[in-house]
Amino acid sequence: MLVFETIKEMHTWAGSARLSGKSTGFVPTMGALHEGHLSLVRLAREQNDLVSASIFVNPIQFNNPDDLKKYPRTLDRDLEMLSSAGCDVVFTPSVEEMYPEKVEKQYEFGDLATVMEGAFRPGHFNGVAVVVHRLFDIAVPTRAYFGEKDYQQLQIIKALVKSEKLEVEIIPCPISREADGLARSSRNERLSPQMRAAAPYIYMVLKEAKSLAAAHTAAQIVNFVTKKFEDHPLLKLEYFSIANADNLQAVSGVIKPDTYGFIAVFAGDIRLIDNIRLI
Ligand code: PAJ
Repeated sequence: MLVFETIKEMHTWAGSARLSGKSTGFVPTMGALHEGHLSLVRLAREQNDLVSASIFVNPIQFNNPDDLKKYPRTLDRDLEMLSSAGCDVVFTPSVEEMYPEKVEKQYEFGDLATVMEGAFRPGHFNGVAVVVHRLFDIAVPTRAYFGEKDYQQLQIIKALVKSEKLEVEIIPCPISREADGLARSSRNERLSPQMRAAAPYIYMVLKEAKSLAAAHTAAQIVNFVTKKFEDHPLLKLEYFSIANADNLQAVSGVIKPDTYGFIAVFAGDIRLIDNIRLI
């Protein structure tokens, strides 16, 4: 497996892949890899001649400086995992390499970026869009793989590709979970044993919400979920939102097909997100 730190090397590799008529599946990550990331790499492996990945902890998408500072960094282990999952090349740029100058670009995603994560993490999606757009320009993939765990991010990337007319196919990948249901996340590593034991409650409540969806209104289900967290000794609900799968706008009344429940919860100072298709 090749590892490139410079844009020039990565772009040259991508250019030769294109010239030789080979398809490339690209998996952008921030490292601290787990099975969830690897499920994306494996799907990319199945669908493409070549697989590329990136590891870059993107400072401009962190609205909380402490979260950026404490973000786990496990490069050697990550490279081993990518290599065994069949990745051909990994791009691991420095911050200076990616951002030699101050980033001024502002994307306009309208209502898609103002709800849920967009509302609670100001500037986050602009930072994601900036880095993903740059990574696409550098890695020139045929297809790029994004997890449904970060469902709003996936929709933002689809909107980015459409508005900027980028020639890359976005492939959504299902949420990979631990045996106890907790959605895999690099931040799970930072949970105390007590918080780790409590965290599967989040998916349990989402599943209960799903079981109520056919016979209850959105407001009733929001109420139900809110109550489930009200008296929880460890987990603090930040939001639970029932929204349309495509435009992510809140749904009220009867729940129709293609509606999801989206949740963000604090386990101590670790923020966890998850979602479930309700109908
Ligand atoms: P990161 O959190 O490292 O995630 C990289 C990719 O893995 C994302 O597409 C994410 O949705 C996916 N992923 C993470 N956990 C997953 C899980 N449990 N199941 C399925 N997919 C999962 O998301 C980012 O990095 C960054 O915002 C990035 C897109 C790399 C831009 O900096």
